Amino acid sequence: MTPNSLQDIKDRALGFMVEAEWEAAAPLIEEILALKKQRNAVILAHNYMTRDIFHTVADVVGDSLQLAIEATKTKADVIVQCGVHFMAETSKILNPGKVVLLPSLEAGCSLASSITADQVRAIRKKHPGSRVVTYVNTSADVKAVSDVCCTSSNALAIVEAMDSQKVIFLPDQYLAKNIAAKTRKTIVTWAGSCEVHERFTGEDIKTVKQANPGIKVLVHPECPPEVIAEADFAGSTAKLIDFVKEHRPEQVALITECSMASNIAAETPDIAFVQPCHLCPHMQEITLTNIRDALRDNKHVVEVDEQIAADARKAVERMIELSQPKAS
Ligand code: 13P
Ligand code: SF4
Repeated sequence: MTPNSLQDIKDRALGFMVEAEWEAAAPLIEEILALKKQRNAVILAHNYMTRDIFHTVADVVGDSLQLAIEATKTKADVIVQCGVHFMAETSKILNPGKVVLLPSLEAGCSLASSITADQVRAIRKKHPGSRVVTYVNTSADVKAVSDVCCTSSNALAIVEAMDSQKVIFLPDQYLAKNIAAKTRKTIVTWAGSCEVHERFTGEDIKTVKQANPGIKVLVHPECPPEVIAEADFAGSTAKLIDFVKEHRPEQVALITECSMASNIAAETPDIAFVQPCHLCPHMQEITLTNIRDALRDNKHVVEVDEQIAADARKAVERMIELSQPKAS
């Protein structure tokens, strides 16, 4: 997805903004487009960005895996990461020679802050011979001491590809349990969790289904297993979007971050989106204003120590390699 002219963006934006909102946002959007051109920059935006970013200035939108893959392909000199800190670090790891900007330093992640590299070393010592599969929602330091990374869209395939029977899966306890239910490998877990997805309960899903007969309930695999058990489908943010676009159910509950429903709704006015959802305070830190400031004032430049980046790159590249469709 590449937004072209301001007119194209306006046409798209007026599908979900009233004229007055557009008039307020337009000068910032115009400034961002000019700065992107001037700096040969690309904007990589996660599916949790608000729709005024997602449907206007973003060059590429996607889930964590898609954004990491796009980061390996870009010819831009500057990457503006509209997402959280670990995503910007992943882009820097894959592009040590490029400038990677994160519009807000407040954009962290409860999973990434739940574990350190020393803790990974210690758990590895406790389970000799086991492979360490690390969710991308981690710091570069943690990636650097892992065998391979994964995202929610490829976690099962990555675990299955390991050459050890026991796999240490870090740091999301719920994603780990959800994967453990689908594999014969022995999964060692860590007590991390996503502060957004851990809030959903099986009761929430039952209530939604009772109140809306026939509704499709789609959930992110960072939710607890009792939530997954009640759902019609579980998948990464990109897989949830694909499901909605492909199956076009009349009513959907997206059990994930709230921006997802408003981003898809802008393109699918025939589908009714039903709550509950929760906001990720970290993702919400990114705004059109701080994207403009990032490009204009070159902030906040994301740096990763060269050796850490080299070690982390191996784990991320191994994930990308294992995620490519097999040639037949
Ligand atoms: P996805 O890889 O599904 O986009 O998830 C990233 C994330 O942070 C979900 O909370
Ligand atoms: Fe981290 Fe959860 Fe926010 Fe995703 S939604 S960035 S996992 S806190």
